[in-house]
Amino acid sequence: MSFTSVVVAAAVALGAIAAPADPQLGSAAHNLVKRTTPNSSGCSDGFWYQFWSEGGGGQVTYTNKAGGEYSVTWNNCKDFTSGKGWRNATGRTIKYSGSFSLGSNSYLAVYTWSQRGETYILENYGGYNPGTAGGQHKGTLTSDGRTYDIYRVDRGNGYMQFWSIRQGKRSSGIVTTKNHYDKYNSLGLVFDPAKNATYQILSTEGYGSTGNADLTVAEILNIQMKTFYGYLLSFQARCGLNITLL
Ligand SMILES: *[C@@H]1O[C@H](CO)[C@@H](O)[C@H](O)[C@H]1NC(C)=O
Ligand SMILES: *[C@@H]1O[C@H](CO)[C@@H](O)[C@H](O)[C@H]1NC(C)=O
Ligand SMILES: *[C@@H]1O[C@H](CO)[C@@H](O)[C@H](O)[C@H]1NC(C)=O
Ligand SMILES: *[C@@H]1O[C@H](CO)[C@@H](O)[C@H](O)[C@H]1NC(C)=O
Repeated sequence: MSFTSVVVAAAVALGAIAAPADPQLGSAAHNLVKRTTPNSSGCSDGFWYQFWSEGGGGQVTYTNKAGGEYSVTWNNCKDFTSGKGWRNATGRTIKYSGSFSLGSNSYLAVYTWSQRGETYILENYGGYNPGTAGGQHKGTLTSDGRTYDIYRVDRGNGYMQFWSIRQGKRSSGIVTTKNHYDKYNSLGLVFDPAKNATYQILSTEGYGSTGNADLTVAEILNIQMKTFYGYLLSFQARCGLNITLL
């Protein structure tokens, strides 16, 4: 949500509260009519999903697919964010793959959101570079095979964005989010995923552009997590499901 003013971020906060958490929303019903998908968030096949659009012109169609897959097509729309991931943000290692068209203003990012700020690990983007357009360059990080430029963008009213912008654009790969979050803190950019984020998704965002994406996200669990209990905890963290261990 970085193309326009912080008013957009405030509007998103309202949208998140008002959004129905209906896991059935998504694919089938939305395909019947050609119109912009309504704002919504919730569980879809074990993953948290989130869709928000500013509305007011153009068209965005978001579709939840099986598991960690979603697709979105947009046509001359205003701002929207969309994607699948986890209800609880952590320093997890994320694997993703798929297709992402380079609309003029569009982002493919591992994204966290809260009412106080956002983080973007930006893997691909169109013509608009959010870092060089008004960001403060804080340093670099080498992670997952490439260098990322780290920027801090103050959107006003204390609303912060921390950006990691990958020097080589891509539409599939592995993102070790902990490397980024640790680096932010070492640079004085305070970020605790447990406290600073209400969700963590592989986001497709667009603004005033036309494009399409079809992406699948998954978590790579480390060896210690590969226990029955670890799987349950990981599954629970995706959607905030209530799994009680006997
Ligand atoms: C989504 O919510 C925002 C407020 O956050 C609202 O302005 C917008 O019209 C909504 N979008 C749609 C497609 O209903
Ligand atoms: C995280 O929270 C801290 C403390 O409230 C705040 O200073 C910081 O800007 C927040 N970061 C983000 C990315 O929201
Ligand atoms: C996920 O976050 C919710 C609140 O947002 C919290 O109640 C729950 O305990 C968290 N679950 C895990 C596994 O961290
Ligand atoms: C989770 O389930 C337990 C047992 O059914 C219940 O006592 C508890 O209130 C539930 N917690 C939430 C957050 O729904």
